[in-house]
Amino acid sequence: MDIVIKDNYDSMSNYAAQKIAGIIKDKPDCVLGLATGGTPIGTYRELIKMHQQGLDLSAVRTFNLDEYFGVGIDLTKPYDQDQSYARFMHEELLKHVNINPQNSHIPDGRTNDPAGFCKWYEEEIKKAGGIDLQLLGIGGDGHWAFNEPGSSLMSRTRIEALSKQTLDDNYESFYKKAGVKREQMPHFAITMGIGTILEARNIMMLANGSQKADVVALALEGPLTSQITATAVQLHSGAITVVLDNESASKLKGLQHYRDVANLKKEYGLE
Ligand code: F6R
Repeated sequence: MDIVIKDNYDSMSNYAAQKIAGIIKDKPDCVLGLATGGTPIGTYRELIKMHQQGLDLSAVRTFNLDEYFGVGIDLTKPYDQDQSYARFMHEELLKHVNINPQNSHIPDGRTNDPAGFCKWYEEEIKKAGGIDLQLLGIGGDGHWAFNEPGSSLMSRTRIEALSKQTLDDNYESFYKKAGVKREQMPHFAITMGIGTILEARNIMMLANGSQKADVVALALEGPLTSQITATAVQLHSGAITVVLDNESASKLKGLQHYRDVANLKKEYGLE
């Protein structure tokens, strides 16, 4: 696992975007797994800047991690009318870059057949050849995607009930500002499973801010547990990069070691 610690949110975002752009340049039709939330917004802004400077995303294929269940992705409706992750992706990335809408996949929060949809989503990922790079944040309760405490570390795409902490966190970050009442928030989501995520060839997890410091330390250094599904980072067999800012890294027991390793890698040209 590569643990990269940057001074602040902007340098974390810039690093993550450079990595993603590198993958796109090496494989223009790469399959990216995308995340929503406050954490990746800076990364998306950097990618948008790179696109404006010539980065071509026309062949890139994308699969989002999750979507609230019961809120929409009806592309015929204006995006500013709901708090869906489809709207978020459109506003924060998709409308600014040249990803072909047909190549962008976001779980359908309005499906009448969730089980059938989840099966289809898994099949589409397989048909695309699997995910080259999965971008991830980490929830305050330690979740990856919406794999809440107690989710199997082998889980697949499915409907999952949101934990109280996730509802509280997402209310504060998004719903409150949009004038939505706490009780009107969706209580379920469609989410890729941990087993689905672990099949991605590369994983890049981002975290920033002191409010994530405890959970980041538990995820990277604590015992493997379905109570903190991001501990699955310890199980991945491919390349893992964890990109943190100083604040979110501050509770890591091995902080000095990770910094030393990063410096040595720089010195040996192994970055
Ligand atoms: C979003 C997702 C979530 C977020 C997590 C952190 O697609 O899957 O797991 O990554 O809740 O959210 P922020 O970045 O808002 O702190």
